[in-house]
Amino acid sequence: MDKITVLDFGGQYCHLISRRVRELGVYCEVLPSDTSAAELKAMDGLRGVILSGGAASVYDESSPAYSPDILEAGVPILGICYGHQLLAHIGGGRVSGGKVGEYGLTSLKVKDSRGLLAGVGVKSDVWMNHRDIVAKLPAGYRVLASTRHSPIAAYANDKSRIFGVQFHPEVTHTAKGMRMLGNFVRLCKAKSDWTMKDVIGKSVEEARETIGAGKAIIGLSGGVDSSTAAVLLSRAIGERLTAVYVDTGLMRHGETEFMEKAFGGRKMDFRVVRAADRFFAALKGVEEPERKRKIIGALFIEIFDEAASEVGAEYLVQGTIYSDRIESGITRHSDNIKSHHNVGGLPKDMKLKVYEPLRDLYKDEVRAMARQLRLPDAIITRHVFPGPGLGIRILGEVTPEKAEICRQAGRIVEEELRKAGVYEKYWMGFAVLLPVKSVGIQGDSRTYKCPVVIRIIESKDAMTANFSKVPYQILEAISTRITNEIQEVNRVVYDITNKPPATMEWE
Ligand code: XMP
Repeated sequence: MDKITVLDFGGQYCHLISRRVRELGVYCEVLPSDTSAAELKAMDGLRGVILSGGAASVYDESSPAYSPDILEAGVPILGICYGHQLLAHIGGGRVSGGKVGEYGLTSLKVKDSRGLLAGVGVKSDVWMNHRDIVAKLPAGYRVLASTRHSPIAAYANDKSRIFGVQFHPEVTHTAKGMRMLGNFVRLCKAKSDWTMKDVIGKSVEEARETIGAGKAIIGLSGGVDSSTAAVLLSRAIGERLTAVYVDTGLMRHGETEFMEKAFGGRKMDFRVVRAADRFFAALKGVEEPERKRKIIGALFIEIFDEAASEVGAEYLVQGTIYSDRIESGITRHSDNIKSHHNVGGLPKDMKLKVYEPLRDLYKDEVRAMARQLRLPDAIITRHVFPGPGLGIRILGEVTPEKAEICRQAGRIVEEELRKAGVYEKYWMGFAVLLPVKSVGIQGDSRTYKCPVVIRIIESKDAMTANFSKVPYQILEAISTRITNEIQEVNRVVYDITNKPPATMEWE
């Protein structure tokens, strides 16, 4: 498969570049800024390299490391923003501090529309975010376009196939940005074979080759990633895939029925393990958050192990996606996953081999795959839910009674968000049960009961998040219903903390 690689110089839009190239149908991945020309040359199917933007100045000592022989990678190279300056700098040109910065929408005057800027027109709006400028080009380069403050806003060296743009073609504000990236892809002669149909076909093939005649097991959490991985694998190996859904007693309302409906009739060995008693027994008396996580994680593994040896599986399939690997700090293809995403981490002595069919996909691509594989909409659009479930939303000791309160409160939050038509706007909306009591008045008597916290969050990448400024009417409807419908609760509070400093979950 042809591919284009983005080298990450720390710019906030680095992954956006990669996604845009994929939208153009070419597989794209992000690698560290100092990936060497030799490493690039050794890559199968590499057709082009893009250097991302970044906050540094090419003269800073702290600027990200790069391989000085990058120009000899043997494929076309496009520098964006910082990358544009760096390529000019390496080639022997001059970068200088601009008199004024250019931030935001800027008018680009195209002087030469051959190649990179073909079809852009003489004037076009572009998105800028810089102060340094390329002041002088290396020999053999021609200027393609300028703006008021950047006389060399785009350049090309046709012979060595090196291109630069000071602006960001990957953001939607740049009117003809996709056209420019498309031109670069054409200059790279990269084949467009990264369509979801192709991806599914290739993944099914890969899964068949990997698992061979053996058996695989997958833990189904009900989230879109593991669900998509399961349905993909079921296409590849059918009933040799055992999909285990563990009812821990700490799941969302109606989850087991939901999962039975979604997976029961499919071509796979789907199993529900009802293990609530085991989880509650193991959690009895435990208050400390990390211990709770460990206990829950260990029990999950125990149950998978039991199922795996029962069916004789050799492979453990996981729904790890590209962003999970980025979050875990993948560099140079290392594949360690944050334990967080594995419900407490995998044991070191695990005999099962791990297979991650979605490892290269962005979340929106997983959703697109899920649609193509005809997974129910309810799975594709639902809020994420943590592996340890309500266990980390019930502060202090976890009991079946508290789990039921927390589950019902969470159900009400979700129902009211859906009723108001805003459910899909949010990353998560859920309820947390506190282990303290406060005084209330219900009917004619004073009460002394536990409060419920409502947490509704907006986030793009899970790394940072803002609490949602949900209209008061919705919060009021949630609060009224919770205190009316759940006997054990007399007070509802709203969490107004961003992440950081708080995490999304309370434990
Ligand atoms: P935090 O609380 O770390 O959550 O801000 C970020 C996102 O990760 C989810 N989360 C987990 N998911 N196992 C999981 O599978 C876990 O142990 C876990 N802890 C948090 C959380 O729900 C949010 O979407």
